[in-house]
Amino acid sequence: MAGEQSQKDVLPTNEVYHPGIGSYQQTYRESIEHPEEFWSNQAGILDWHKKWDKVLDDSNPPFFKWFVNGQLNASYNALDRHIKHGKRNKAAYIWVAENGDEKIITYDGLYRRVNIFAKALLDLGIKRGDKIVIYLPMILEAPVAMLAAARIGAVFSFVFAGFGAGALAERINDSKAKMVITADGAFRNGKVIELKKIIDEALELTSTVNTVVVVKRTGSDIQIDEGRDVWWHDVNKDSSVYVEPEWMESNDPLYILYTSGTTGKPKGAVHGNGGYAVWTASTLKWAFNPGDDDRWWCAADIGWVTGHSYIVFAPLFLGLTSIMYEGSITYPAPDRLWAIIERYRVNLIYTSPTAIRTLMRFGEKYPKQHDLSSLKVLGTVGEPINPAAWKWYYENIGHSNCPIIDTYWQTETGGFMIGPQIGLGLPPLKPGSATFPMPGVEPVILDEKGKELKDEEKGYIAYKKPWPGMFLTLNNDPDRYKKVYFEKYPGMYFCGDYAIRDKDGYYWLLGRADEVLNVAGHRLGTIEVEDALISSKEVAESAVFGKPDPVKGEVIAAMVVLKEEFQDDTEIISKLRKRIREDLGAIYVPEEIHIVKSLPKTRSGKIMRRVVKAVALNQLPGDISTLENSASVDEIKEAIEAFSKEAKK
Ligand code: WT7
Repeated sequence: MAGEQSQKDVLPTNEVYHPGIGSYQQTYRESIEHPEEFWSNQAGILDWHKKWDKVLDDSNPPFFKWFVNGQLNASYNALDRHIKHGKRNKAAYIWVAENGDEKIITYDGLYRRVNIFAKALLDLGIKRGDKIVIYLPMILEAPVAMLAAARIGAVFSFVFAGFGAGALAERINDSKAKMVITADGAFRNGKVIELKKIIDEALELTSTVNTVVVVKRTGSDIQIDEGRDVWWHDVNKDSSVYVEPEWMESNDPLYILYTSGTTGKPKGAVHGNGGYAVWTASTLKWAFNPGDDDRWWCAADIGWVTGHSYIVFAPLFLGLTSIMYEGSITYPAPDRLWAIIERYRVNLIYTSPTAIRTLMRFGEKYPKQHDLSSLKVLGTVGEPINPAAWKWYYENIGHSNCPIIDTYWQTETGGFMIGPQIGLGLPPLKPGSATFPMPGVEPVILDEKGKELKDEEKGYIAYKKPWPGMFLTLNNDPDRYKKVYFEKYPGMYFCGDYAIRDKDGYYWLLGRADEVLNVAGHRLGTIEVEDALISSKEVAESAVFGKPDPVKGEVIAAMVVLKEEFQDDTEIISKLRKRIREDLGAIYVPEEIHIVKSLPKTRSGKIMRRVVKAVALNQLPGDISTLENSASVDEIKEAIEAFSKEAKK
């Protein structure tokens, strides 16, 4: 795999390429050998209101504290300090609507709007430490809301606008949010998604929310609940207010972001202020080395961690100009991404392998219609990138001139963990490898028992040391934080992925090692879908699994056993799909739903999900003893036989 392409082929030639891998190695070594000194210097990337007493407090693992007793404010670092230092008139965002409208907002403009909304939040009774759910599409009010919350020390939890009412209610309940910020609707593929209706439905299932602030975006006809709902434009009237930033201790929470795990209940990853801010700003600089005059485009949705860290916080901390695009990358035609790059002369683009594969399917003719010569760096994130997509991106978009920065990380890590680093010295690239760790990150590849594996051996990837961007805990559930991430390999962070390190020390990430799916670069839990299915009155049992897909990496497939009285319902599959869409959101709707008479189970009644998957995908391994921990080989054989017969009918 590593030798698929010679290294010579993948050395970009433009000016951002500095073959200075030696300087990377030196920086990396310093970060590992002298972490206190290293991070103390690196924290100077931000302005601190009060300096920390201690770089790292590791006296109560795995609850690590970075920059202890340091005080700062994220919105101050994103805005105020740039206004003071010559960037008042620089564009913070060039926002492009799906219909082509554009808005440019300067650092001063963003600062003004954040202050106005921070005041509005205070007037609406939100105080430091209160929780706010943000459920917004890709509009400028999204970063304004996040930064205004950060300014007053309120903790926001952004819920991706593609989630359904059930998923939203669960997040509101777990975070005990007092307020929701949303819009009347969102534009997507030329259609309107009625967000406010989804909020109204979710709020039937919750009791903590007193106020809903509604941005008018689509002009949809919505219901206003007089005592509860207020329009954004009504509470954002003042034009010159200043709200003193709340000085947050470095380890106070900044936001909660929910991600899927192996149970039905999503995990609320809590990120702090100081360590997170140092990490996001540093990693963006190291990996992409954006210049002051560059235009950066992170083409993710702001509702996922990629958007939090690299549309909002890191680029604003660094004082960059970002593109923010409202809509779908194939609307109105599959050249939308390329058209925006040409029109706004984008220099650095950061997207996902799924997006690349989607656009690749439409062929080279679309990128060829556009002048892409402004591009200097191409980034990817979210899932392993296959060498074919890597090459297509490299040749057809970067014209063999731009390095591909494949960044491997997770919601929990806050920012990049492994990726090539232009700012420190770019290594020769290997298509499909995320290359080397960021400073301070010490990965190891382990077997099931925790033995360190040799190069070229596939195992679980874990990290030996804490790093500043790591999440603080899981909201309301510190025990789950310990169990899920720190118990498998005591003293190390286990992230749930398989990986290999090759002979040259390059890391290759090989996908999830648990029952979590990666659909189009988004982490989704199989059990969440199963829960949604079995809560339907027609369904007796179900098993959900990931099916490999050439574009999305994986898609969701489900085997469903119906209750006796519903077995003749011919509409059942579309009913189930609709219900999942409404409850969890469109991204959770299975691509395939198969109705079967029974599912393979252990004698104790546990569904053998991996047997279901292996049979469905025709992938029965020779050694079936690994298929299910709690069943005997005979039991599995019987189950496979019975189920295979039925599934093939
Ligand atoms: C999971 C994290 C990181 C922001 C978007 C997803 C997979 C992520 C890569 C990559 C191979 C990758 C892993 C990881 N993943 N980036 N460059 N190469 N795999 O965040 O929803 O928290 O998902 O995405 O499996 O554990 P997330």
